[in-house]
Amino acid sequence: MSITIKTPEDIAKMRIVCHLAAEVLDYIAPFVKPGVTTEELDRLCHDYTVNVQGCIPAPLNYAPPGYSPYPKSICASINHQVCHGVPNERPLKKGDIVNLDITNIKEGWHGDTSRTFIVGEASILARRLVKITHECLWLGIAQVKPGIHLGAIGAAIQNHAESQGFSVVREFCGHGIGRTFHEEPQVLHYGRRNEGPLMEPGMVFTIEPMINAGKAAISQLADGWTIVTKDRSLSAQFEHTVAVTATGVEVMTLSAGTPPCPAHIKITP
Ligand code: MF3
Ligand code: CO
Ligand code: CO
Repeated sequence: MSITIKTPEDIAKMRIVCHLAAEVLDYIAPFVKPGVTTEELDRLCHDYTVNVQGCIPAPLNYAPPGYSPYPKSICASINHQVCHGVPNERPLKKGDIVNLDITNIKEGWHGDTSRTFIVGEASILARRLVKITHECLWLGIAQVKPGIHLGAIGAAIQNHAESQGFSVVREFCGHGIGRTFHEEPQVLHYGRRNEGPLMEPGMVFTIEPMINAGKAAISQLADGWTIVTKDRSLSAQFEHTVAVTATGVEVMTLSAGTPPCPAHIKITP
């Protein structure tokens, strides 16, 4: 399969499901407090997605080749967990950082977005990691424009993360998205600006940098899903689904509660 180009009608449908996925994050944000379990957050998100929004939570039973079916409706990755953390009965505690990753399906179209939340008040390092990772996402988004290599996204992200003494996870990347959850192209969060396919209007993909406070290496836990940093350093992530427009970028996973693009980063619509 190659990179699919979405029509304006396709994009209109994706805009709806992307907005709904972002609204799940708005809905769950007030519940992310010390003492709540990620299993409880999963149940709340599941019920909201299904019963209020009329969407399907894409992670539930998702089984790419080589994986067992994912058992929950959201991913909840705490502290040194990089991504794909499986919600469980362990309560969040003050000072944790937790990424909640939501993917909704509506009328066959997918929308994928995540934010890292700070539980109570966190260390200076944790706050800086979360802030820099959010900036990395938006610096990547700012590169999106027809005629530019996809590698420009990764180069901008890697440059910012490493300039702050942080590292970029290599094994997981952003991805094309549409009628399927994960499709071409792969959107690397590192690399060179003159590498990779050229962006074209109608391409829709995610940008979702995973940034570690320590080294970039990761390992997988015995549950077959949860990814952690090998050195157990903190890791943060933010994700948006974006569309390439005729002139620049449309960020599709926006909602009232979306943390805004940092003021110093310029986005061309
Ligand atoms: N939402 C993740 C992504 O951004 C994928 C999660 S797959 C799951 O690509 F099965 F763990 F949910
Ligand atoms: Co994604
Ligand atoms: Co995601």
